[in-house]
Amino acid sequence: MSAQILDGKAIAADLREHIKRRVDELRAAGQRPPGLIVVLVGDDAASQVYVRNKQKACEHVGFHSELLRLPAATSQDELLALIDDLNLREDVDGILVQLPLPRHIDEDAVTERILPTKDVDGFHPYNIGRLVLRRPILRPCTPKGVMTMLTQTGIDLVGKDAVIIGQSNIVGRPMFLELLMARCTVTVCHSKTRDLADKLRGADIIVAAVGVPRFVKAEWVKPGAIVIDVGINRLDDGSLCGDVDTAAVTAVASWITPVPGGVGPMTVATLLENTLLAAELHAASDD
Ligand code: GUN
Repeated sequence: MSAQILDGKAIAADLREHIKRRVDELRAAGQRPPGLIVVLVGDDAASQVYVRNKQKACEHVGFHSELLRLPAATSQDELLALIDDLNLREDVDGILVQLPLPRHIDEDAVTERILPTKDVDGFHPYNIGRLVLRRPILRPCTPKGVMTMLTQTGIDLVGKDAVIIGQSNIVGRPMFLELLMARCTVTVCHSKTRDLADKLRGADIIVAAVGVPRFVKAEWVKPGAIVIDVGINRLDDGSLCGDVDTAAVTAVASWITPVPGGVGPMTVATLLENTLLAAELHAASDD
């Protein structure tokens, strides 16, 4: 078997076109475009690339977007005061503070300061709680984007055994909630998990979010499994690779996401989707 490629770049492009049309409709009806503010504190190299991609995507679909770059020495109080201002601004539908933050800033305090209705990352405890209760509003972008990709396979997810590797707040945990909501039976593995290979061998769906280059080996993958690679690792030669040994696993899986061009573009497109949703909810609450 040779896996079909789950083309995140193409699915994201479709999603962006859909969002762009909706923005055009809003403008035609005399409404302002959705507004997203991205806040970058410091000069982390990977974060610079990510926020640039988010900016470009916003421009493409016609959102109003601003990138606020703050020095690494910005205090927590200064950042919280900025968020308070953005929370009050009527032209701002979404606020995204790029993570990681410098170590002197408490990420939880920052995440919780953003109004839940403007939390387009879906990281606020209110939005995570809604997802736990199966009544989500703004959902974390990477797991939601993965669900959009899984839907594109046309495979019925109900009752499937899914294994997630990684338990982060950004990916692993909300991914667990998404797959559970789709009625999969979900296992979350992490650095203390025993017999990881055994757990993976039973999986119909594998989501790898470990941050270790080519960690998932072909021998661990059940023939016909769907393999989603959330990893983006930069190798010494400057090239990118995921958390899955893609070349070998492609011979075993039914579907696989490439890196780059898989989950990454879907995360950005889903951020746009969330910002549009936030804008529509804000507009409805003004009516
Ligand atoms: N850093 C890595 N991924 C993300 C993300 O999805 N949102 C934010 N705000 N920071 C990140």
